Amino acid sequence: MHRRRMEKPAWSISGLYGRCFLIVAAIGLWWLLFVLHFSIVAHEVSSNTTISISTEDISLVQTSQLTDSLETHLTEEHSQRTMVTLEAVEPKPPSLQPFWRALASISNHSDPCAGKYVYMHDLPPEFNQDLLDNCKNLSPWTNMCKYTVNAGLGPVLEDPEGTLPKTGWFSTNQFAVDVIFHNRMKQYECLTNDSGIAAALYVPFYAGLEIARNLWGANVSVRDSASLRLAKWLRGRREWAVMGGLDHFMVGGRVTWDFRRLTDDDHDWGNKLLYIPEVMNMSMLMVEKSPYHVNDFAIPYPTYFHPSQDSDIEHWQNRVRMVERPYLFSFAGAPRPELSTSIRGQILDQCKSSKFCNLLECDRGESKCHVPTVVMKLFQESDFCLQPQGDSYTRRSIFDSMIAGCIPVLFHNHSAYTQYVWHLPENYSSYSVFISEEDVRTGRLTIEGVLRKFSRSDIQTMREEVIRLIPGLVYNDPRHKLKNFRDAFDLTVQALVKRVTDMRIKISEGKFVSFGAGNSAEDIRESDLKLSQREIGQWEVEKRNGEQDNLSKQV
Ligand SMILES: *[C@@H]1O[C@H](CO)[C@@H](O)[C@H](O)[C@H]1NC(C)=O
Ligand SMILES: *[C@@H]1O[C@H](CO)[C@@H](O)[C@H](O)[C@H]1NC(C)=O
Ligand SMILES: *[C@@H]1O[C@H](CO)[C@@H](O)[C@H](O)[C@H]1NC(C)=O
Ligand SMILES: *[C@@H]1O[C@H](CO)[C@@H](O)[C@H](O)[C@H]1NC(C)=O
Ligand SMILES: *[C@@H]1O[C@H](CO)[C@@H](O)[C@H](O)[C@H]1NC(C)=O
Ligand SMILES: *[C@@H]1O[C@H](CO)[C@@H](O)[C@H](O)[C@H]1NC(C)=O
Ligand SMILES: *[C@@H]1O[C@H](CO)[C@@H](O)[C@H](O)[C@H]1NC(C)=O
Repeated sequence: MHRRRMEKPAWSISGLYGRCFLIVAAIGLWWLLFVLHFSIVAHEVSSNTTISISTEDISLVQTSQLTDSLETHLTEEHSQRTMVTLEAVEPKPPSLQPFWRALASISNHSDPCAGKYVYMHDLPPEFNQDLLDNCKNLSPWTNMCKYTVNAGLGPVLEDPEGTLPKTGWFSTNQFAVDVIFHNRMKQYECLTNDSGIAAALYVPFYAGLEIARNLWGANVSVRDSASLRLAKWLRGRREWAVMGGLDHFMVGGRVTWDFRRLTDDDHDWGNKLLYIPEVMNMSMLMVEKSPYHVNDFAIPYPTYFHPSQDSDIEHWQNRVRMVERPYLFSFAGAPRPELSTSIRGQILDQCKSSKFCNLLECDRGESKCHVPTVVMKLFQESDFCLQPQGDSYTRRSIFDSMIAGCIPVLFHNHSAYTQYVWHLPENYSSYSVFISEEDVRTGRLTIEGVLRKFSRSDIQTMREEVIRLIPGLVYNDPRHKLKNFRDAFDLTVQALVKRVTDMRIKISEGKFVSFGAGNSAEDIRESDLKLSQREIGQWEVEKRNGEQDNLSKQV
C-alpha cells in the first residue's frame, strides 16, 4: 500500500516564486510571442478550440521548464491497482492543450493567485441549497436543521460551566463538512469566474447530506437519482469538456463506503456515486477514503473548534500546552460486540483495570460521551488518547483528541496514516503511537506497558508536534478570515491544485495514464467486488444492524 506524503506541502507557493523568477527570464521571449499569437483566442477555452502554432519548438521548451519549476512528484499513485486502465493520452505541447492558459498563468509572478485559482460551478439549487432548505428530511435519526446554522458549524456550544473558551466553539455535526467546505470556498481569496485559468474546478454538491437522507429504506433508484442528475448536468458543461472532469473535485462529508454500492440490490448499502463514470474522473474528498482507489482523498472530520481569528488559535494552543494532565491515557467509546474482529472489548478491559487510564464509557444512544464539553475535558486530562477503529477505520474522535493536545494511539494504519496524508506528517511516530491490533488481540503487549515506556520529555516532544498541527486540522469559521494560520481547507486546496497541475503537465508530456472512467466503470466495480469485500462488506452489515448513524462514528 502506498502512502502519498506531503509533510511539508511539497508545492509551496513562495518556493515556487523563487524558481519562477529564475525561469521567467528564460521564457520571456517565448512568452511575448505567445501572448501576441494568442491574445485573440485568450478569452474562451473550449474543448473544440484547436490552436495552430507555428513555433512548436518553443512550446516544447516550456513543458520541461514548468516541470522543473514545480518539482512535480506526480506520485506513485498511478501504479496503484484498481483504477489503472492504461489509456495513455496523446501527448501534445502545452500550447496545444485546452488548458494551456491555466498552465501559462502559473508563471505570472505578479499575480499572487497564480496557480491557485479555483472555479466554483454554479449548481442548480437541488444539489446544495435545497437540501439545507429541507433540512428536516436530511436524517431519520437527527434533526439536522440545528446543525446547518452558522455557515454549517452548528449552534454555539453550550458550556454553562465555562470549560472551553467563549469564542470559536460550536456543536458541530461530524458529517457537516460538505457545507463548511462550501462556505470556506466562498471566501477563498483566489476564486475565479474564468474557468480557463483555474487550477481546479469545485463542484459544490452536498454529496454527504444528499445520501444521508436516503440511506435508510429508499430503493436504489431513489438513492442514485440525484447523483445521476448531477453527472448529467456536469457532462453538459463547457468546463467539463476541457479535461473530462479530471480537473474537477467535490466533497462528501461521509465515509467512502456510503458512496460505493457495488450492486443494484436494494439491500446493499449506499449509493453508487463513486462508480458513475463522470465522478470517477473527479477527485472526491471525504472524511474517510478507500485505501484502494486513487481518486479518493481524505480530509479531517470537523471538530467543535472553528477559530475566527488568529488569537483564538494561539490562546487555545497555549492552553492545551499548559493544562494539567492527570491521566496517562484515556478512552471514550463503546464496545462493538457484534463485530468479531473489534478490539474495543480488550481496550475497555485494559482501561478499566489500569489506574493510569480514564474511561468514558458510551452506551448506544444518549450518554455523557456525546456531550462535547465532557469529551474535550477528558482529552485535555490525558497524555494519550486511544483511537481504535469503530464501524469503519476512522473516527472523528481522532481529531477531537488532537485538538485537545492529546497524543493519539492508533491501532490500524488506515485509521489516520494512510488517510490524512495532506494534513498529517509522514513520520507518524512524531505525533502518535502505533500499537497493532494483532498485538492487542493476542495480548503480546499491554497498552499501559507500551505507553509507560515513553519518558516525560518524549511525551512533551510529541505533544508539541500535535499542538503544532492543530491549525491544519480545524476548519476556520467561514465567516471570518485568519491572517497567519492555514486551516484544513487551505491545506486541502493547496494539495488539490497541485494534483491537477501535475496531471496537466503529465498530459502535456504524454506521460499521463488515465485512471478509471469511460467504459471501464463496470469492470472496476467488478474488480472491487472481489478486492475490497472486507471493507464494503463489513461496513454494510454493521450499518444495517446498527443504524446508529447519529452517534456511532463520533466515539
Ligand atoms: C499577471 O497578473 C497580473 C495581476 O493579476 C495581471 O494584471 C496580468 O494581466 C497578468 N499577466 C498575464 C500575462 O496574464
Ligand atoms: C440517535 O438515534 C437514536 C435512535 O437510533 C435516538 O434514540 C437518539 O435520540 C438519537 N440521538 C440524537 C442525538 O439525535
Ligand atoms: C463571478 O460572477 C458572479 C456573478 O456574476 C459574481 O457575483 C462574483 O463576484 C464573480 N466572482 C469573481 C471571483 O469574480
Ligand atoms: C423506488 O421508490 C420510489 C419511491 O418510493 C418509487 O416511486 C419507485 O417506483 C421505486 N422504484 C423501484 C424500481 O422499485
Ligand atoms: C474522463 O476523462 C477522460 C480523459 O480526459 C475522457 O476521455 C473521458 O471522456 C472522461 N469521462 C467522462 C465520463 O467524461
Ligand atoms: C501498517 O501496519 C502494519 C502492521 O500492522 C505495518 O507492517 C505496515 O508497515 C503499516 N503500513 C503503513 C503504510 O504504515
Ligand atoms: C520520526 O519521529 C521520531 C520521533 O520524533 C524520531 O525519533 C525519528 O527519528 C523520526 N524519523 C524520521 C525518519 O524522521
